[in-house]
Parts: sequence; C-alpha cells; structure tokens
Amino acid sequence: MFATVLLLLVTLCAQGGNGKEEQEAQRLGHVSVVIVGGTGDLAKKYLWQGFFQLYTNQVSSGNTFSFYGGGLSPADQAIPVFFEILKGVSCNKDVPVERCALLKEQFLRLAQYRQLKTPEDYQDLAKHIEQQLKEEGMVEAGRLFYLSVPAFAYADIADKVNSSCRPASGVWLRVVLEKPFGHDFRSAQILASQLGNSLKDEEMYRIDHYLGKQVVSKILPFRIQNKKFLDPIWNKYHIERVEIVLKETLDAKGRIPFYDQYGVIRDVLQNHLTEVMTLLTMRLPVNQSSNEEVLRNKLKIFRSLQPLGKNQAVIGQYQAYNNEVQEELNKTKEYLSLTPTFAAVMAHIDMAQYDGVPVVLISGKKLDERVGYARVLFKNDIFCVQNHNSVHCKPKQVIFYFGHGSLQYPAILVTKNLFKPVVMDGEWKEVTEHKDVSVLGLPISDYYVQAPTVQREAYSELIAQIFSGRKDSFISAEHLLASWGLWTPLLDSLSSSYPRIYPGGADNANLLDFRLRGKEISYANEAVVIIAPDQMGGPSTDGFQVMQGKYRSADMVSAWTEELVERLAADVQAAAEAAVSEGGTFHLALSGGSTPLALFHRLALYHFSFPWRDTHVWMVDERCVPLTESESNFRNVHDHLLQHVRIPYYNIHPMPVQLNQRLCVEEDGGALLYEREVNKLVNGSSFHFVLLGVGYDGHTASLFPGGKVDGHGDSLVAFTESPAKPHQRMSLTLGAINRAHKVAVLVMGKGKHELITQLSRVKDNPDKWPVTGIRPANGRLVWYIDYDALLG
Ligand SMILES: *[C@@H]1O[C@H](CO)[C@@H](O)[C@H](O)[C@H]1NC(C)=O
Ligand SMILES: *[C@@H]1O[C@H](CO)[C@@H](O)[C@H](O)[C@H]1NC(C)=O
Ligand SMILES: *[C@@H]1O[C@H](CO)[C@@H](O)[C@H](O)[C@H]1NC(C)=O
Ligand SMILES: *[C@@H]1O[C@H](CO)[C@@H](O)[C@H](O)[C@H]1NC(C)=O
Repeated sequence: MFATVLLLLVTLCAQGGNGKEEQEAQRLGHVSVVIVGGTGDLAKKYLWQGFFQLYTNQVSSGNTFSFYGGGLSPADQAIPVFFEILKGVSCNKDVPVERCALLKEQFLRLAQYRQLKTPEDYQDLAKHIEQQLKEEGMVEAGRLFYLSVPAFAYADIADKVNSSCRPASGVWLRVVLEKPFGHDFRSAQILASQLGNSLKDEEMYRIDHYLGKQVVSKILPFRIQNKKFLDPIWNKYHIERVEIVLKETLDAKGRIPFYDQYGVIRDVLQNHLTEVMTLLTMRLPVNQSSNEEVLRNKLKIFRSLQPLGKNQAVIGQYQAYNNEVQEELNKTKEYLSLTPTFAAVMAHIDMAQYDGVPVVLISGKKLDERVGYARVLFKNDIFCVQNHNSVHCKPKQVIFYFGHGSLQYPAILVTKNLFKPVVMDGEWKEVTEHKDVSVLGLPISDYYVQAPTVQREAYSELIAQIFSGRKDSFISAEHLLASWGLWTPLLDSLSSSYPRIYPGGADNANLLDFRLRGKEISYANEAVVIIAPDQMGGPSTDGFQVMQGKYRSADMVSAWTEELVERLAADVQAAAEAAVSEGGTFHLALSGGSTPLALFHRLALYHFSFPWRDTHVWMVDERCVPLTESESNFRNVHDHLLQHVRIPYYNIHPMPVQLNQRLCVEEDGGALLYEREVNKLVNGSSFHFVLLGVGYDGHTASLFPGGKVDGHGDSLVAFTESPAKPHQRMSLTLGAINRAHKVAVLVMGKGKHELITQLSRVKDNPDKWPVTGIRPANGRLVWYIDYDALLG
C-alpha cells in the first residue's frame, strides 16, 4: 500500500519536472558550461568557438556564464594549451573590432581549466560552482556538460556527474554526447542502459552534427513550404532515385585506432546519411513544432526500410590504408584489415509512396573531391523529338547541397524545369549572380538557387539549441536503436567480405562505379583483385558446383550456400510450373525460422516468372503468437516473401492460431479448421511441395523429440509443445507431410555439421529424431545440405 503511494508520488514529481522543462529553458540565471575533453581536437576546432558564439549572443540576455575546460592532464601542463585554444575564437563579421576584443577578454576571464579525473575532481568542481554562486549571490539556471571524449568513457563520466554534479532541483542539467553511440545494436543497447542509470533521457543530448548543418536543418521546412509543388511528385511515379553523398579527399591517417574498428559505414552512413535519408522520406509532421511527431514519423521510416544485406552494398578500401593500419596499430606486414573506407548502400522503403525507388547512400575517403549533398532525381517523361537541349528534356532534380564541391557554399537547388521554390524564411536569400559552374551535370543557370545569408557552423547551431532546450535535432535512444537495428545485420554480413582496393583520388577513375539492378547493387566493372595466395581464405572460387548424392537413403543435393539456394529455388519453380500445367494450381507449404530466408529472397528477387498467381501458400507450422508479431512464422514468410510477389490474397493460408481473441485453445478448433481448409482446396490433401528445416535436436516442422510425433493418427494438423518458448505450436503432422508430392529438407551452416553427421548414422526413430519420420508414401524426399553443414 505504502509502496504504491510512494511510487505515485515519485511519478507525479517526475512529470512535474518535465512540464517545467520549457520554462526552465527560459529561466534566467547562472549557467556553468563544462567541456570534458576541453583541450581535445573537437573542442579546439569547433566547441569553444560554438560556446563563444553562444556567449556573445547571450551576453545581454541577463544570463551569466562560467566555462570550464576539463581534462585528464594536471592543470600546470594543460593551462597554456587551454588558453592558446581559447584565444583562437573569433566574432561574427558584423561585430566591430573593439567590441570583439572586449567580448573575447570577458570570455577568457570566465573560463578556467580543471583537471577532471577522479570522483574527487568532480566533487571539487561542484563545490566550486556552488561557492561561486553563493559568493556572487547568483541564481543558478543550469549546468551543461559536453563530453568530448572517447565513447568508452561516457558511462563513467555520466556516473560521476550524477553522483557529484547534479544541481539542485529546478535547475536544469544537460549532458551532451557525440557519436559513436555504440558499435552495433547490442553495444548501443548496453551503452544506453548504462547511461540510463545516471541520466534521464531528457537530460541527454546525443549530437549528430550533420543535423546542425544549415541545409540539412532546412530539409523539412523546405518540404513543408513547397508542399504544393512537391506533393504531386514526391513518389514512386516521379522519383527515379534518391542519392545521399558525402565524399572526402582525406585519408584516415592519425585516426586509425578509432577508424579501423568502425569503418565508413559506422562512421558516416549509420548516422549522418541515415539522418538525411529520414528527413527526405519521412511523412511531414502535421504540427511542425512537435518534437514527438517528428520523431515518431522518423521512426516509421526505420520500420518501413527493407532489411539490408550483402547484395545491397559495395565496399572499397584505399590502397594505402592497410599500410597505415600496420604502422599505427603496430601490426606485422601480414596483417590484413578488411575495414571499408568506401561504401555505397542501396536502401528501399517499403511504402506504397516509395515502392521501388532506390535510396543510395555513398561515402568514402580518398575520393576525387570533397563534397556533400542529397539529390532527388526525378524521371523525365518528356520525349524530345528534335531539340534535345531544350530545358524540359534535361534532368529534373532537387539538390540539398551541404557544402564544398564545385559550388563551395551550402544551398538548395531546384532545376528550372521543375518549379520555382519558395525562398526559406529567416536568413535565406535567392542567389542569382554566380560563377560559371556546373552542379551535378547541369550549369548553375539551369537551377533556382537559394542559400543562407550568413554561413554558420553546425556546432554553433546545435549548441544554441541545447542551450534553449530544443531536442528535435538530437538523437533519442529509441531512434538510435532503430538505426542500429537497420545497419547491424548488414555490418555482420560484410564482416568477412574483401573490400575492393582503390588507388585514391582521380586515379580511382571508374573503379568505384556501381550499378543498380532491381534490389541489388554491384560494381559496374570487373576489377582484378590482387591478393597474395597466402592471404586467401575461405572457399576457393573453383568450388562452386552442385553435387548430387544420397543421404539417409534419400536424394541429396549439396553445394556452397548460394548455389544451393539457387538450386532449391529452381526446383521449387520447376515443381510449380509442372503442377500448374497439370492441374492449374500449385500448393506450397513453407516453414518459418531463419534458414529459408535466403530461399525466400532468391524467389522474390530473381524468379520473376514464378507462377505466383496460381500458387497457394500454406504454413508447415506456426507459433502461438499473433501473426503480426516478429516471432510469428507467417510474419516471417510475409515480410520476406509474400509482400514482394504478386500473389492473390485469397491464395494465402496462415494457420488460425488466434481465434475468439485467444491463442491456440484446443476447444476453439484451430487445427481442425486448418485441416478442413487443406481438405477442401488441396487435391487429395497432398501438397505439391513441402519445405522443411531441421533443428539441432532433430525436430522438424513443430514436431519435437518426445512429443509422440507418430501419434497424430489420421489428422493433418495438430497442436504441439516445444521445449523452447513460445511453447505452444500448431504444426502439420507427419501424416500430412508424408502425403506430399515432394518434401525438401534444407540444412545450412557449420553449426549443423554435428547434427548432419549424427543423423547419417541413426535409424528411423521419429520419437527421438522427428525428422527421420519423413517418408513420403508416394512422393520424393530431397535433402538440400550446404557444404558447411555437410563437411563442417
Ligand atoms: C543518480 O544517482 C542517484 C544516487 O546518487 C540515483 O539514485 C539515481 O538513480 C541516479 N540516476 C538518475 C537518472 O538520477
Ligand atoms: C504543436 O506542438 C507544440 C509542441 O508540442 C504544442 O505546444 C502545440 O500546442 C501543438 N499545436 C497544435 C495545433 O497541436
Ligand atoms: C610494437 O611492437 C613491438 C614488437 O611487438 C614492441 O616491442 C613495441 O613495444 C610495440 N610498440 C608499440 C608502440 O606498441
Ligand atoms: C487429383 O488427384 C488425382 C489423384 O492423384 C488425380 O487423378 C487428379 O487428376 C487430380 N485432380 C486435379 C484437378 O489435379
């Protein structure tokens, strides 16, 4: 009872705190700014400049400030370096020289260096702040900690801030963090939960500095203000493709210890380019000033992105990189780093609006020029019979130009054959005088161009937003995990791929050109890859052949994974064509789990002539969860196969595991219902093709060892129990499987080698090894086993 009341009180207080957030942001008083890592590179290049900018903008607002540069070095060593950095800050052009000198002098007087290493150092800092407030009779407004340190130090510092430097209640605390936020989904999750022990979510500001870039922050406003022009064309019928590009000329030298663990995908694509992608494609918020709605709409894009795999990426590495790694990481000459320094990834968004529109994210080091932009290229459906140079025959595009490159300044460009855009409010102007340059294939005079009147550094913009408590340009924990959820499977699948080696700069010529074909991306030119023979690992290239043989006295097909999957896909298609030509329909029963995913992708992406219109899809088994849950086998088949092919809805037969608003209750008769449907539609209740897998314990479908697998009598469908969660399942029985015309058992991966060896020796014993109960009465059983599983 008391516990409940207490809990309620705590909740109420917490909510009260949130509600005050807006007012707190405005509340006047003293603000302490602490840059942990205050003499580091980032602080030197951007952060102190950003805070000086903040100071000059706020100097007459009534707020007062102190600035602390924190570092691990003792004060006597660090102070000269620290003040050297601070002296480098500069004023906006419009500030008169004397005023600027005065502001700088004041800023320097308000700043001090402190060693921040031990818990005592943080306690001393807090004492110092409180003492100063008391001595000068100031009211405190807030404390801002900017952690400009390697990510591994975040949790520890956040803990020290929480235990010693939390201000009194009513005073805000904001802690700013920079990427990397983790290395993959799991590490990001761990980091988020560690930080969550010390800081509340609203206290954390995860920076992606790209979101502070002037053009990037105008993508949504541009889309909103030009809605009436964009609405009719912002869709699959008009967009040819979207490109988001960040090219660098620099290499990774000096940053290798960091870079080699991350590579270009984690460094740039997972964060900056992904953010831009969501801004370009998300649904426009109804209420522009609602952070929550913007974030919600961004998250929907993540949910709609099709999974990324090996075939959606090409990777490269500049030639000198490996030597740099050997040197900086002190490795031997044999050491080979596979870290990509170039990547192009093609994403697809599974929404009717963008169906089939490729979104290409490209970034690399040591390329021909330094430039960043996002381009939306439209289809041009005008066919020019004679005058090919007339403007309406030229490419139509909207370009968000982040900077550098041929144009040299940030701008938004719209080709004149599209529409004349509204000029952004607030410090933007139309540019009509320009040098004779061309931008992405068109002379600048073919565009309407608008640019900011004053160029601002991203960090200054973001620091101003942190100060005013605005969070829409920062990354929430949920959003971060969604992004890692997208990228982690791709990173895993690329972890042992060899990047294409490129010489760097103009010499790359067309070596990195790639081709988009359907849902896949590949390099356009064959490259001769030179790898010393002793560095060759894995399957040799002449091993790609399909082997036929016998396994457990049934037929077996074996090959390397990719060939095996293609062979199985071809066999399914052949069975489908035969069945359709004979009786007009093909009845296919599919398993869940991860093994058949490769087959589903193969069928969806390569087998365009598959007779889906005449195919009925049945389920071999189902878990007792709602069909919409990620654990559901049907959901799996739906997401990876059905939604990508043109199969009539009434040919799809999920198992009825949910009836009367409950899951798999015997008396609801779900199993019987499915059996009746099979009897009604499938001639002789004999499926043409049943696809099965086999588990480590020898289970197949949802028929588990010790589950009286043979005891289902004549029934075709039964409820079963799994030793793993969720325990309840619905499954075709051995009786149903053994009536089929063809049964395929697909087994892949080194992990199944033990099982395959064991199964080759045991006698039929369905109670112990359910898969051994498969003996089609009038049909054919074929094992499809990849070399990894067969040979270990
Ligand atoms: C901060 O530290 C206190 C103990 O000093 C702890 O009770 C609290 O849960 C910590 N975390 C947050 C988010 O306040
Ligand atoms: C829009 O969102 C802001 C911030 O959440 C809120 O204060 C405002 O009332 C909203 N406006 C409308 C029309 O809902
Ligand atoms: C580099 O490796 C050598 C030999 O393994 C070792 O003696 C040396 O201390 C290492 N240097 C650094 C900077 O790690
Ligand atoms: C149904 O199956 C029987 C027995 O295999 C076969 O003779 C008959 O032609 C089939 N009917 C159709 C419509 O396929």
